[in-house]
Amino acid sequence: MVQIEHLNLGDKTAVRNKKGFDIIFCRNVLIYFDDVSRKQLVDQFYLALNPGGHIFLGSSESVGRISTAFKLKRAGGYLVYYKEEGDKQ
Ligand SMILES: C[S@@+](CC[C@H](N)C(=O)[O-])C[C@H]1O[C@@H](n2cnc3c(N)ncnc32)[C@H](O)[C@@H]1O
Repeated sequence: MVQIEHLNLGDKTAVRNKKGFDIIFCRNVLIYFDDVSRKQLVDQFYLALNPGGHIFLGSSESVGRISTAFKLKRAGGYLVYYKEEGDKQ
């Protein structure tokens, strides 16, 4: 199931209300945010992911440099960040 809608990632309230994602693709967007906003946004992405959900940023953007909440695994020769299954946050 895919739902398409506009979302201003600078709108903290709107972002906070987003929940229940299995995958977040956010390639080459964080470059428009300052360090503080970028960290806040990635923390919100973490909360918006379902346990076991995955996040994909651009190849030059590292989740690990922004947040320590995500787990890292190797999948198909790539390193992938995800939210641990047991994490209900
Ligand atoms: C460099 S493009 C990347 C587009 C695409 N993700 C890709 O990798 O080809 C940056 C994108 O960030 C979006 N963007 C910038 N600020 C945004 C914001 N506050 N909320 C949502 N999208 C934003 C722009 O609309 C643009 O589509």
